[in-house]
Amino acid sequence: MKIAIVYVSYYRKHTKKIIEAMNKVLKADLYEVNDTLIWEKQKKYDLIGLGSGIYFAKHHKQIIELASLFPDLSGKMFFIFCTRCNIRLGKYHDKLRNILIEKGGCIVDEFSCRAYDATGPFRYFGGMNKYKPNEKDLWKAEEFARKLLRKCTDKVHFSDENLISRKIDGKIIRGDYNPPSILGIQGDKVWVNLDVCNGCGKCVKVCPVNVYKLSKFKGHPVSELKAIPVNELDCIQCLLCVENCPFSAIHINGNIFDAFRMAWKHGKRE
Ligand SMILES: Cc1cc2nc3c(=O)[nH]c(=O)nc-3n(C[C@H](O)[C@H](O)[C@H](O)COP(=O)(O)O)c2cc1C
Repeated sequence: MKIAIVYVSYYRKHTKKIIEAMNKVLKADLYEVNDTLIWEKQKKYDLIGLGSGIYFAKHHKQIIELASLFPDLSGKMFFIFCTRCNIRLGKYHDKLRNILIEKGGCIVDEFSCRAYDATGPFRYFGGMNKYKPNEKDLWKAEEFARKLLRKCTDKVHFSDENLISRKIDGKIIRGDYNPPSILGIQGDKVWVNLDVCNGCGKCVKVCPVNVYKLSKFKGHPVSELKAIPVNELDCIQCLLCVENCPFSAIHINGNIFDAFRMAWKHGKRE
């Protein structure tokens, strides 16, 4: 699948950081929005990401302008993303989303995260969202990219009608393609995205130090069983769980000190 990402990131390059994290997975061609050939080049891509920081409650005006310039987009797949200061995304994506859908495009998924902002009054309080996007945000962006690819290539977990936003009888119907963020990410040293985890138990089987335990979460739409990193402090960072998780729902957040602590602990056991 050929993927392009078109972006604006001018304030502190927060959005660029997010793009770099996504691109570890997507391997997309990156274009700054002022590349005048984008209008032509878009034809050769199957999936196009459009994003920027949020400036005055919407995407950067050049991104909006570019979307307005695109010709008929029937059947073309898009994803949109942003970094923002506000706690809530609110309606920030609406303008861009509506333009793309009006032209027949399909929005496969959307991503947003908070980022540092020291403009206006925030300057006098040391800025908002200090140190964001942080490592966890970047992981979420990577995770988003994996999910995005799965949605475009394998539709096992997302029924087709939920996969994309589209226009039906003149009305824009928004696809609800994200597993709703009900449970979020569990763990500190071992992160499990519980909304993605489908409780297959592979991590439980491969973990040599019994970090995970399956627990039931009644009514979760993806799966009621979830792997909880109950013994995360025992993690020896072998990464077997990460490699075996079919949904890329696990990330090991331990550092070198954790690695030494575990080596010492296991050494003492001998
Ligand atoms: C001129 C300007 C206007 C902004 N307006 C908003 C806004 O309306 N809502 C919001 O949540 N964040 C706003 N922000 C914060 C940015 O969205 C945030 O810092 C973003 O990460 C910037 O992305 P960039 O570093 O990739 O340019 C604004 C920032 C700037 C510089």
